[in-house]
Amino acid sequence: MLYHFIGHKIGDIQKDMRSRAIKNTKFDPWNDPGNIMIQAILGYLTKLETNYENYGVIVYFKKGFVIIGALLYSINDNKCTIHRLGVTKEYRRQNIGTKMVEFLELYLKIVNVKEISLYSSDELYTIKFYKKLGFEIVYSTNMIKHLK
Ligand SMILES: CC(C)(COP(=O)(O)OP(=O)(O)OC[C@H]1O[C@@H](n2cnc3c(N)ncnc32)[C@H](O)[C@@H]1OP(=O)(O)O)[C@@H](O)C(=O)NCCC(=O)NCCS
Repeated sequence: MLYHFIGHKIGDIQKDMRSRAIKNTKFDPWNDPGNIMIQAILGYLTKLETNYENYGVIVYFKKGFVIIGALLYSINDNKCTIHRLGVTKEYRRQNIGTKMVEFLELYLKIVNVKEISLYSSDELYTIKFYKKLGFEIVYSTNMIKHLK
């Protein structure tokens, strides 16, 4: 299941996520201090909130509302930046990362954003992952994709 949380305030995103989680299961992942993925998302969202006006998070839940993937982005001047993208180790190579980026692209079309850029890690496999999605290297690990 993919969910898209857009907000101007981290509190709104948290509230939205919490209410959906409670509606769908009895388990509230935001109140599980052992959930490393959530701690990582919240930590980074705080940074985005400080530095950007428009940002969001796309979250991939498996059954039971366990988060197994997340993509954090911001939009500025009609350009999107992917800040963080990760899939839990045991769920990698199952197309989840691809689905999250494709989902973001669908949304960006709606809001008329024509470009995504990012800094990949310098691991060859992440460069390969982004190239397969149509990103090109600008220099070093800085990559860009122009959307049609
Ligand atoms: C990079 C990452 C998000 C990819 O997510 P994923 O869900 O495993 O990727 P997908 O299953 O959608 O892979 C799509 C394609 O990318 C390439 N790819 C992805 N992981 C790869 C790997 N470990 N080795 C080689 N190619 C790889 C393959 O071409 C793959 O297609 P295939 O499985 O049909 O061969 C994930 O590996 C991850 O979280 N890594 C750690 C965090 C990170 O590096 N994030 C990105 C840096 S900003």
